[in-house]
Amino acid sequence: MTSKPLKILAISGSLRDNSFNSAALRTAAELAGDSAQFTFASLSEIPLYDQDLRDQGVPTAVETLQRQVLDADAILFSTPEYNYSVSGVLKNAIDWLSRVDPQPFADKPVAVMSASMSAFGGARAQYDLRRILIYLDAHFVNKPEVMISFAHKKFDDSGALTDADTRKFIGDLLQALVEWQMRLSNGKPPQ
Ligand code: FNR
Repeated sequence: MTSKPLKILAISGSLRDNSFNSAALRTAAELAGDSAQFTFASLSEIPLYDQDLRDQGVPTAVETLQRQVLDADAILFSTPEYNYSVSGVLKNAIDWLSRVDPQPFADKPVAVMSASMSAFGGARAQYDLRRILIYLDAHFVNKPEVMISFAHKKFDDSGALTDADTRKFIGDLLQALVEWQMRLSNGKPPQ
């Protein structure tokens, strides 16, 4: 039986059209080519978490995201850094997913990138994302760490990543994610 391409759900923590983080995820999809099937999650319709709202049921946008995470073989995040942490948009989406059954991040292979215009490349947000998802039993690729610093100098106006080193780091991270997914599924490729 031939193995299928890895199903990767890409989750950007930024809603804006010209987001460097969303562009980094599009670059990952481009680099993966036929070896992975990318789906891009949208967080824009997820309401603010409110326990009263949750008590009425699971909003459609949350249900859709839950299904996308469950269906994916692996998750690739790219998070901006807002005031030294992940964006509220991303944290809010994760908070919702932590309150649905089944909680979809449990046992998922996960990789993370970050992009920012500063010299740190969103490193602080990235470590916060790892910390948040520990509690949800996600399993992170440790290395390579892809922190895209000075992002405004590495993407062109169309959102294409022009920096060769960064393209290589993203390719290496994808390869590590594929190998990590295989390891977590006892060496079995996606069926
Ligand atoms: C930022 N930015 C930012 N950058 C950084 O490196 N560390 C930080 O703590 C912050 N804080 C911060 C707070 C808020 C509210 C905003 C709007 C921005 C800048 C941020 O990295 C930059 O806007 C990126 O371009 C955001 O990512 P996207 O939207 O391009 O993916």
